[in-house]
Amino acid sequence: MAAGFDKNGLLVDLLDHLGFGFMEVGSVTANPYSGNPKPRLRRLAESNSILVNYGLKNEGSEIIYQRLYHAQPNLPIGINVAMTNNLANQDTKKGIEDYLVTLQKFRNLASYFTLNISCPNSFGGQNFATAERLDALLEEVDSLSLEQPVLIKLSPDYELSEIQEVVKVMISHNIAGCVAGNLTKKRDAKIVKNYILPQEGGLSGKATAQLSNQLISSIYQQSKGRLTIIGCGGIFDADDVWEKIGLGATLTQLATGLIFGGPSIIGEINVKLSEKLLRSGFDNIQSAVGWAYRNPPF
Ligand SMILES: Cc1cc2nc3c(=O)[nH]c(=O)nc-3n(C[C@H](O)[C@H](O)[C@H](O)COP(=O)(O)O)c2cc1C
Repeated sequence: MAAGFDKNGLLVDLLDHLGFGFMEVGSVTANPYSGNPKPRLRRLAESNSILVNYGLKNEGSEIIYQRLYHAQPNLPIGINVAMTNNLANQDTKKGIEDYLVTLQKFRNLASYFTLNISCPNSFGGQNFATAERLDALLEEVDSLSLEQPVLIKLSPDYELSEIQEVVKVMISHNIAGCVAGNLTKKRDAKIVKNYILPQEGGLSGKATAQLSNQLISSIYQQSKGRLTIIGCGGIFDADDVWEKIGLGATLTQLATGLIFGGPSIIGEINVKLSEKLLRSGFDNIQSAVGWAYRNPPF
């Protein structure tokens, strides 16, 4: 389960029953935020996409921590950490401190952390998206010596040269991998049908699929196994998952597919993915990672 579906950690005891192997709660920010002015969501059903403009709405790290402390989840829980949506955090030092508050709070509870540096809908939500500023953030995160893996959630909108710089920075710090990727700010008329898009908001679902796949592929080829990639963007069925694994993802997440397809799609994906593995002769998902570079398409 990708971030954004269970922003406040209300569903952690339930989601394993749908067939998810792990989930990401959040984005959680140090302080609460009540959300950007409505409307914050628009379903673009014809395009299998959602226009999202929540702006990191959540109850804040303390309340969510208390809730998860008393929960009994049966699956690994990643905490997606973002920066509280306010003007003050535009300042680099303040912004970094904001991330650290949430990381410290959950350091005994999270199975892994994802640093969200790619929220398209908040003040400074992408402030740490450049290689230089990401480096400054990760310097401080390293100094926490967290025991669990730390991943970075990336925008699917990077140019190739930008992503190469960002990968170099991730590898030079104690970063286990990345989520590829978040919502897109791109406005591709060919993907979104019958709706004139406003400037505000990011698109999910099919509008992100191709961009996410390109991102996975460039990171995989550059990092040569040094970063674990969670593929995310436009997954609606087992073929979409298989494609992302072929391009280099070890794990995958979805949000929009569940919203449009309903809870049964997770079980269906799991069953069809197992069949694909059997047919293609791989023993497990791990050995299939990157198949597209080694084998003819299955
Ligand atoms: C309603 C909604 C809210 C989201 N909120 C967050 C969020 O708070 N933090 C985050 O990192 N990603 C958020 N996302 C992005 C998703 O986690 C995911 O990266 C993106 O939607 C692409 O995956 P999908 O096509 O499977 O939805 C949100 C997505 C949706 C649809």
